[in-house]
Amino acid sequence: MSPSTPIYASFRSIGAYVPEKILSNSDLEAMVDTTDEWITKRTGIKERRIAAKDEYTSDMGAKASEKAIERAEIDKSEIDLVICATVTPDYFNMPSTACIISDKLGIRNVQAFDISAACSGFVYLLSIAKAFIESGMKKNVLIIGAEKFSSIVDYTDRGTCILFGDGAGAAVISATTDKEEAIIDIHASADGSYADFLVTPAPGSIHPVSQAVIDEGLNFVQMKGNETFKLAVKTLTKDVVEILKENHIKAEDVPHFIPHQANYRIIKAVGDALKMTEDQVVLTVGKYGNTSAASIPMAINDIYESGRLKHGDLMLLDTFGGGLTWASALLPFAGKTKS
Ligand code: ACO
Repeated sequence: MSPSTPIYASFRSIGAYVPEKILSNSDLEAMVDTTDEWITKRTGIKERRIAAKDEYTSDMGAKASEKAIERAEIDKSEIDLVICATVTPDYFNMPSTACIISDKLGIRNVQAFDISAACSGFVYLLSIAKAFIESGMKKNVLIIGAEKFSSIVDYTDRGTCILFGDGAGAAVISATTDKEEAIIDIHASADGSYADFLVTPAPGSIHPVSQAVIDEGLNFVQMKGNETFKLAVKTLTKDVVEILKENHIKAEDVPHFIPHQANYRIIKAVGDALKMTEDQVVLTVGKYGNTSAASIPMAINDIYESGRLKHGDLMLLDTFGGGLTWASALLPFAGKTKS
């Protein structure tokens, strides 16, 4: 390689982990005042997975990572950066979940840290990995979206408990000189003036843990569902229209549109605005619910494992989440097609 050869970041592999326990809509009917019919009609969710009591975010992240590293056909000693996106870390301040995942994988003496961008976390990670690789600082970056969302859900609040589930997804992003394999573009943005749309008030510097915090349930996620819904449709649509236009790619030429899996109606509204066919839109929300930062990599893993995602296929990612944050990405799948 000559010193002037450009280096690109490529999406080399995908892996995911889904906990065994299923929480169905009929289970929720027994817990809160809701019905399978209401949940299905308003969200498209039929069931979600819940991690075991002694199964933590890092356990799920490590299992997803093992698959991603194996499928990248590299040795774990070649990983030179580990980054995890989560809003349900093993510990709320330190150590980071990325450090714990690295330890569980036996990856040592390598930079590791977490980011907090809620459901946009995985696409934010892609942008970080791309920057590290294209600047020449790193060669193989392990990115992980992992959530034990059930640890911050109030199972007496019907407005939120029906939506969320647990799981993890991971990918290896590697340096390449082949432009055909390169991540094409990533948009990532935020607007903190909507911070109160999705918030877990405690623990934090505003509300350190106290009996009052627990009594008031400030440790649970709070959401302005309807307001979030409306803004999500608007933002998601605008973001993908822009990224496609800027890169001179037509929606009809994207075989895999992989949106954040929050609500079927949000996905349908954005898919319809882009005139996407059902074959193009990847849907896993019905079986996993909203798994926040894990949702997009779990969905990519689903189409990889079913043989739908092939080497070179173009993917369009689109997400939004607490913060508010939002992001989209256009990239080819540079891994091998599943045999
Ligand atoms: N079962 C039955 N009724 C319910 C339930 C339930 N589980 N939840 C709410 N309702 C009721 C409400 O109380 C309300 O009743 P009312 O009219 O008597 O007051 C009625 O249903 C309508 O409530 P809305 O909140 O207006 O319902 P909406 O159609 O907006 O659906 C939902 C609610 C599903 C939460 C929707 O707003 C949504 O999906 N929002 C987006 C949320 C989201 O994606 N959040 C994640 C962001 S990503 C992240 O970063 C974590």
